[in-house]
Amino acid sequence: SRVINVALLGNGTVGKEVAQCITERHEELRARSGVAVQLAGVAVGEPSRHPEVPRSLLTTDPYSLATRADVDVVIEAMGGLDPAYPVVSSALESGRPVVTANKELVASYWSQLHKSAAAGHSDFRYEAAVAGAIPLVTPLRQSLSGDRISNFTGILNGTCNYILTAMDIHDQPFDAALQEAIDLGYAEADYARDVKGIDTADKAAILASLSFDTVVDRAAINCEGITNVSITDIRSARDRGHVIKLIASCQRPTHDDDNVPLEIDVRPTAIPRSHPLATVSGATNGIEIEAALAGNLLLCGPGAGGQPTASAILGDLFTVIRNTYA
Ligand code: HSE
Repeated sequence: SRVINVALLGNGTVGKEVAQCITERHEELRARSGVAVQLAGVAVGEPSRHPEVPRSLLTTDPYSLATRADVDVVIEAMGGLDPAYPVVSSALESGRPVVTANKELVASYWSQLHKSAAAGHSDFRYEAAVAGAIPLVTPLRQSLSGDRISNFTGILNGTCNYILTAMDIHDQPFDAALQEAIDLGYAEADYARDVKGIDTADKAAILASLSFDTVVDRAAINCEGITNVSITDIRSARDRGHVIKLIASCQRPTHDDDNVPLEIDVRPTAIPRSHPLATVSGATNGIEIEAALAGNLLLCGPGAGGQPTASAILGDLFTVIRNTYA
């Protein structure tokens, strides 16, 4: 069977899980896909910290790895913009398909990356960048592409939802809950991106671009995180039959006029216990989408962590392989 060489950029919580699946489930994946997927290399910051990866695969140069002649697909799980942006855009322009979990990258360079993919005729996929394991990007790009979405409301950050749930149900202090979310591999390397709502805003920007066929000005998003939510706020919401969630919401502008900016809102919001998103607890994500023909859709599932994110990456990897190399 044909061998597909994968360049893996990043070997943190997500990258490790992807590497392990590709290595340990090699035969099963070959039987299912008809191709043999193998790691061509793993780009990391500090090789000595990755003893489980064969030394011959490790490199500190993601750019050279991603553009190497024998590489068929690039998986980017490094996070951040530098060097992720120049590396991913070069890989796409050189005709290599890219699968990424990097929401900051996709939200910040939406048009540039789609242009690079078009220039190189490369498949570009980022299901893992929004809401972990929940199929959301592909449904928006495909299943719902003939419908007209009017709005979405979502819980898009597992770390914040884990913290708010722990404060609500266990009366746990903010810092202790945050530490647990870090230990469980939910939080970003820089957890300020989670608790300040920045990660949620990145994901909302991606969803809005897909839902409303527009390019979102990432800097224009009104964004408030959960750092000011106190146990007192949570208790008083509870007394009123409400629960506080970090909610991202966006409506289609009422006029289809390019001059009417899209409004994306990210803020802690008290919602009634009867609201469908009120039952979304822990590191789970949930999103309600309202569409003209479909009506109301509710999608829920694991939104953070190595394995759920790896699930979305592997799904994209096999889609790329089917589309490009089958
Ligand atoms: N830090 C993110 C979260 C990881 O907690 O949701 C998934 O994107």
